[in-house]
Amino acid sequence: MKRVGILISGRGSNMEALVRAAQEGRLTAEVVVVVSNVPDANGIQRARSLGIEAICIPSRGLPKEDNVRLLVEALRQRRVDVVCLAGYMRLLTPYFVEAFPRAILNIHPSLLPAFPGLEGQRQAVQYGVKVSGCTVHFVDESVDHGPIILQAIVPVKDDDTADTLAERILLEEHNIYPEAVEIVVNGQFEIIGRRVLVKTGRIGK
Ligand code: GRF
Repeated sequence: MKRVGILISGRGSNMEALVRAAQEGRLTAEVVVVVSNVPDANGIQRARSLGIEAICIPSRGLPKEDNVRLLVEALRQRRVDVVCLAGYMRLLTPYFVEAFPRAILNIHPSLLPAFPGLEGQRQAVQYGVKVSGCTVHFVDESVDHGPIILQAIVPVKDDDTADTLAERILLEEHNIYPEAVEIVVNGQFEIIGRRVLVKTGRIGK
């Protein structure tokens, strides 16, 4: 079974969705470690209460390259095959991306390539789009940019605020993230250019 490491910076609801999916057998992988770059992130306790090892590798006060090396070392020590970013608010370096080729995933709360960066939900409301959603994609060296694995659509309502939209998008995040990881850990995909072709027949929910 593939071994998954999850990187977080905050509350960790996507981390929990992945752990629960693995524990319930909907995701045929084992979550072996959760790493936070923020010492008091709520997700650390959340992971521990789910029985998962959770550690902190602080990003503050350390040159970025040193931080990334520690991170790679911690993941390698635990023989992590696939890395999932789940609200990890740090940019990764080429060294990190190369350490786990085509095995780093991220979830973003918009339909990329619309609204990359911070607060995708607020950007969507402010722009006035009628549909938004979330995206799971492979991580490359640019922000919110790598090939897209799965997306889910969430309609924007007239009375939505950034928060109410974020709440509904989050529900979809919790569905598609485990599904996307399942595709990757089973190698059920092929990448042609920027297109990720999923071989299970489940595409474009
Ligand atoms: C999610 O909205 C995710 O899409 C974004 O950061 C947020 C993390 O939330 N990358 P959580 O920590 O998983 O609850």
